[in-house]
Parts: sequence; structure tokens; C-alpha cells
Amino acid sequence: MESAPDWQGAKALLEWYIELGAQDAVGDEPVNRFELPDKPPKAAAPQDSQPDPTPAPDAPRADPAAEARILAENAPTLEALAEAMRQFDGLELKKGARNFVFSDGNPAARVMIIGEAPGADEDRIGRPFVGRAGQLLDRMLAAIGLSRESPDPEHAVYITNVLPWRPPGNRTPTAEEMAMMVPFLERHIALADPDILILMGNTPCSALLGRTGILRMRGHWTEVLGKPAMPMTHPAYLLRNPAAKREAWADLLDIQAKLRETA
Ligand code: URA
Repeated sequence: MESAPDWQGAKALLEWYIELGAQDAVGDEPVNRFELPDKPPKAAAPQDSQPDPTPAPDAPRADPAAEARILAENAPTLEALAEAMRQFDGLELKKGARNFVFSDGNPAARVMIIGEAPGADEDRIGRPFVGRAGQLLDRMLAAIGLSRESPDPEHAVYITNVLPWRPPGNRTPTAEEMAMMVPFLERHIALADPDILILMGNTPCSALLGRTGILRMRGHWTEVLGKPAMPMTHPAYLLRNPAAKREAWADLLDIQAKLRETA
């Protein structure tokens, strides 16, 4: 019979996992996947009874997107919306995430930025865009006089993502996940009521415009919920493709001009 590894063996195993690319421990408690669940005793079938309409707690939900829409429509404030989203159990992603990531910055800002989903740093800290891509985003915004820390709506930004929970391994959100969260995102935009939206990368374009192709779409104003929206390449893309920063700079200048025009 195999014995449990000593700590050196356990350390070597962990290092080997890291070398293979594992990034996260999925839970704080070890799970014995060979243990059989205790079977509850079978209840006698009720005689002459009507079927119980109450769904079992782990039964598939009837229509999570419809449920999301009702919850979103009934949220009168950003705080209420955050709470409704936090309580929403339609997305499996929630179970694997450490933190619910709602927003950052000044909700009164004229500019609202919509990214994709939290990454590892955002999941750990609970705020959007705090990793390397977020730091680049802060520098880009500072270059046109905007900051998430500014109390002045003219110079502030408000930041959120399409999904508030981190997809495992930072994979792209699925169409189903986005469809489920779009009612919340649209309500988020309506409540924050910015003058201008920035759509960072393909995911917010897909969620809000139903189209992707960010390299073609970037730099061209479009409209989301009646507001001017600028699709831009995601800062994570700019970190991998520094040559694309030139076009991103042109987009930032365009945004600055639009803010002046509509002041
Ligand atoms: N990328 C995103 O799109 N959002 C974040 O919050 C972090 C990285």
C-alpha cells in the first residue's frame, strides 16, 4: 500500500505541479475524492400526494438569465445591485472564486470602463484591474488626466467587468456566462450613468454589442444604451504587443476630445 508522502515528498510534488503550470490551489481543505458519500435512507414514497413544487437546493435553475434580469431591474442603487449580484447563484464560477469583484473608482465619474473579468490578482484583492494590466491601465488614464482615485467626476473613472468572478485559469468567459451577467451589467451602467463608456477588449464588446473583432472595432465610436462607447484593445494585449500602444494612445486622445466636446 502507498504511504502518505513526507513533507519533502509533498514539497517535491507541489514543485512539480507548479512546473506543469498549476497556478491555484482549488480549496483550503483537502478533498478525499475516493470517499463515498453517506447514502441517506430512502424515504417511503408518499401515498396520494401531489408532487412537491419546491426545487431541490441543487436542482438546475429554471432560467438564471431571467432571474438575473429581475434581480437587476429591482436594484434601485449601486449598493443594492452589488448585493443582488453577490447573492446570485446562477454562475458556477462563483464557487471557485475567492472574491466577488464589483467595481472600483468613482461612481460619479464621466468615464466608465468595462473590462472582461477578474484575474488572479483581482480575485485575491477583490478589486478590478489591480494586476499588471491594471497598472498599465492606470498609467494610460493618467496620460489623459484621469484616475480612479480622483474625487472630481471630470477627472475620475469608474471601473467594472462583465463578470464579477474569476474564470478558472483566466479563460475567456463563455457566451452563456456573459448572457447571464449582461442584465446586471446593463443595470450597472444605467445606475452609474456615465457620459462615456470604454469597452476594454472583445469580451465587453461581445456582451454589450454582440460583436467581436477588437482590432477592427477599436478607435471607432459606437453606442451602448444610448451612450458613446469606445472599444479599445485590452491593456493585457498591449503588454504582449507593445507596438499596439501607439493606436491605444490615439484612442485615448479621442476619448479626451470627446470629454471636452461633451463637457
Ligand atoms: N482584466 C480585466 O479585464 N479585468 C480585470 O479586472 C483584470 C484584468
